[in-house]
Amino acid sequence: MMAPAATALGFELRVLAEGEDVSAVSAVANAPVGDYKDLNHLLEFSRGVDVLTFDHEHVPTAHLRSLIEAGVNVHPGPDALVNAQDKLVMRAAIDRLELPNPRWAAVAGVADLVAFGEEIGWPVVLKMPRGGYDGKGVRIVASADDAAESAGWFEAMSPLLAEAKVEFSRELSAMVARTPDGESRAWPVVHTIQVDGVCDEVIAPALEISLDVAAAAENAALRIANELGVTGVMAVELFETPGVGAGFLINELAMRPHNTGHWTQDGSVTSQFEQHLRAILNLPLGATDLLGPVVVMKNFLGGNNQDLFSAYPAALSSEPAAKVHCYGKAVRPGRKIGHVNLVGTSAADVDSVRQRATTVADIIRNGRIQSGTTTATSEETA
Ligand SMILES: Nc1ncnc2c1ncn2[C@@H]1O[C@H](COP(=O)(O)OP(=O)(O)OP(=O)(O)O)[C@@H](O)[C@H]1O
Ligand SMILES: [Mg+2]
Repeated sequence: MMAPAATALGFELRVLAEGEDVSAVSAVANAPVGDYKDLNHLLEFSRGVDVLTFDHEHVPTAHLRSLIEAGVNVHPGPDALVNAQDKLVMRAAIDRLELPNPRWAAVAGVADLVAFGEEIGWPVVLKMPRGGYDGKGVRIVASADDAAESAGWFEAMSPLLAEAKVEFSRELSAMVARTPDGESRAWPVVHTIQVDGVCDEVIAPALEISLDVAAAAENAALRIANELGVTGVMAVELFETPGVGAGFLINELAMRPHNTGHWTQDGSVTSQFEQHLRAILNLPLGATDLLGPVVVMKNFLGGNNQDLFSAYPAALSSEPAAKVHCYGKAVRPGRKIGHVNLVGTSAADVDSVRQRATTVADIIRNGRIQSGTTTATSEETA
């Protein structure tokens, strides 16, 4: 999804692809296959590029340092990126910045986890500090008995992150971009809806949010970007907690274009993909204004329909204003395979905008050939 933005600006985008069959290969002309965990592959790939960046967080920190020593311009750099790679490092950084964290602890085994739960009250949330995505690596631990069943998790990794289970009213995301020279810009804070730990829907801006909370969340994201030396786009995932503390708590950081920013492709003057390119190339950042009073992004996961294009006539005719983004990935149940963006004409119509975006996504996912029917209502997805 970064390729169209690169093309528009006349930049050549190259991708180090994990295999011939990954979806990015069809989007860029130059996509050598290599292993991002192999330093030699990274060095070979980096030869002659102006700047190296990421679409996931899993490139080993030590390799990034070696690349920099070899003269490669890496953005975001390893010292910033480690806060998105390791949730324990991130929690400590948020404490250092005196920004609002949930109660948390590094726990090295079941006994530590039980002690934490007894201290702050059950349930607690147990997380793998590294390698998680889409809720994989996140577990709710209801009681001391339940904690004993987490023993296997500590065999895979230790210490783990334990944190309070936050009673939030909704989840939010504050997205910003920052250049190496320190210019930064923020998009308005958005409302994100997770289903089974996976981002399902985004509403931009977060409607009826307290102005104080929105400003404080945006400032927190800009401060994190500045103080951690973040370059490129960063998403700060937040829990909204009205009337408690600052009115929000920080969940986690992502230092790259993020699912909660896909709405910007069709709903903002500058998309997150263009902004990321501008930021890492140390160019002036683009305006982040919305192109309408409300924008909805609805993800679709793999479902019954294997032949997505067969549903396009019905899907596209059901909502001519909808923008469909299909990732070119093989359809597998539960796998994110695309999203729909829809700009509304009035924030008061948000329910209808959500419903229309959902209808388009459902038709593609389920392959229903009749338009105008929908199964998921906004109540169900909320
Ligand atoms: N402390 C918490 N209290 C309540 N709910 C939580 C907490 N931590 C995580 N969650 C829920 O689990 C979801 C996934 O958690 P988290 O964002 O840490 O995991 P992830 O797998 O890294 O996510 P992502 O898909 O964003 O990469 C959150 O969006 C939220 O819905
Ligand atoms: Mg998350």
